[in-house]
Amino acid sequence: MTQANTVGRAPTSPAPTKILVALDVNGRQRQLTVAPWTTLLDALRDHLDLTGTKKGCDHGQCGACTVLVDGRRINSCLTLAVMKDGAKITTVEGLATEGALHPLQQAFIDHDAFQCGYCTPGQICSAAGLIAEGKAKSADEIRELMSGNICRCGAYPNIVAAIQQAMGTMAGRS
Ligand code: FES
Ligand code: FES
Repeated sequence: MTQANTVGRAPTSPAPTKILVALDVNGRQRQLTVAPWTTLLDALRDHLDLTGTKKGCDHGQCGACTVLVDGRRINSCLTLAVMKDGAKITTVEGLATEGALHPLQQAFIDHDAFQCGYCTPGQICSAAGLIAEGKAKSADEIRELMSGNICRCGAYPNIVAAIQQAMGTMAGRS
């Protein structure tokens, strides 16, 4: 007899091995069946083949996995896909509209704001979140509020310049 039965509790049912999750990803409704412990990052990369979002540390320390969830930037390696059921996810693949690059994508090209490019999708998604937050006005504030996105190639000066350009472009459109 198990210990649980000796104290009169009903045996618990085993945890499900797969869970259905519905996500709006880049404007498209997606349904996927994942193990409960699947991170949002792995769901995007391994289940939806959206490999633009990168896995660097897988521990919330590098920002390579940054995506927008309901408009807010998060590290997708630190959240489970099941926790975002019903959410609106935007990855780097979803930023361009009608064949035109997002102002941040264009600005990163204009300023040569990458070398190997591994951190770039995360930098761009994080910068999109930063601009939406509206808190950063100066280069110092951009540096501070982008500090969760590491660039091992050290492209920081050009990244800041690109974000400043995109801020100007987007402000001019609004
Ligand atoms: S892979 Fe998510 S923060 Fe590094
Ligand atoms: S461009 Fe190589 S890590 Fe940033």
